Amino acid sequence: MTLLEIKNLHLQFNSDEGLALVLDGINLKVQKGETLGLVGESGCGKSVTGMSILQLVPTPPGEITQGEIIFDGENLLGKSTKEMREIRGRKIAMIFQDPMVSLNPVYTIGNQIAEAIDLHQPKGISSTWEGVVDSLASVQIADPASRAHNYPHQFSGGMCQRGMIAMMLSCRPSLLIADEPTTALDVTVQAQVLKVMADLQKELGMAVILITHNIGVVAETCDRVAVMYAGNIVETADVETLFENPQHPYTRGLLGSIPRADRDMNELTIIEGSVPNLTKPPQGCRFHPRCKEAMDICRQTKPTDLDLGDGHIVACHLYG
Ligand SMILES: Nc1ncnc2c1ncn2[C@@H]1O[C@H](COP(=O)(O)OP(=O)(O)OP(=O)(O)O)[C@@H](O)[C@H]1O
Ligand code: SF4
Ligand SMILES: [Mg+2]
Repeated sequence: MTLLEIKNLHLQFNSDEGLALVLDGINLKVQKGETLGLVGESGCGKSVTGMSILQLVPTPPGEITQGEIIFDGENLLGKSTKEMREIRGRKIAMIFQDPMVSLNPVYTIGNQIAEAIDLHQPKGISSTWEGVVDSLASVQIADPASRAHNYPHQFSGGMCQRGMIAMMLSCRPSLLIADEPTTALDVTVQAQVLKVMADLQKELGMAVILITHNIGVVAETCDRVAVMYAGNIVETADVETLFENPQHPYTRGLLGSIPRADRDMNELTIIEGSVPNLTKPPQGCRFHPRCKEAMDICRQTKPTDLDLGDGHIVACHLYG
């Protein structure tokens, strides 16, 4: 069942250089309970996609000019500030790359989780403080009852990230947007945090949009993957299909550029060129200046989404 559907979303930013067309008509579906990976080069629009869902894009300079974001049957873009505040946390939560953005240095971790719990009053907890201690325990914070009295500066980076996850999950959202939740963490803590998220996801039946640069993490944790390039979603497929049978030239380049134990370093491919300036995006397919397979039509006409079957969707003139 579809929990979230983004339809033809356009987002622009007004900057000194002019209007940057940062999301150029993206379409995306998230099913109940699934983990969808969102990948792509830096600046392609992953974070602003997540922030658009929660209406957290600063406006101005940002402006959503077209599109719909349907969550649980309702268009979030038609909601008032007050209605969105109710939805944030209670139904949809977001974990930011830097936990310090969301943790307040002057309150204890426990008080901040308590505030989230009181605000959203999730079912199934006997008291707020018990909920705080339980949620810290669920993200593997040792001695949670006393650690709850610590301030963020008394936690390590990894513990703050887990504290943030505890805060978000204590509200039992049906959708979690996790924006690079583990990049700031060392590998062992990274694995722990991902495991905690996966366990809670199973328990709560929660859907996750996992934004990450780490293709290894995608392979291990995601059901489906959406690949973004310069404000477009260029390919979406289930995780096995995407890794075994990538179709879009950008996806093939992206996967070909990742070192793997079973591959000779000389076999690595490089995507020549750089990400376009979005105030002057290339006409037609935004990837055409870097695409070895570009044809005349690619320089003029933007490719539309084509379903190759089983939900494998690609936007490229090589197909259809
Ligand atoms: N507040 C803002 N004002 C102006 N432009 C912005 C703002 N936030 C994002 N952008 C622009 O929107 C585009 C997409 O940014 P976004 O942060 O979504 O990229 P990303 O894919 O998350 O990159 P990264 O992998 O580096 O986190 C970029 O070109 C960025 O410069
Ligand atoms: S539409 Fe054309 S330029 Fe774009 S990825 Fe496909 S072949 Fe390359
Ligand atoms: Mg980002």
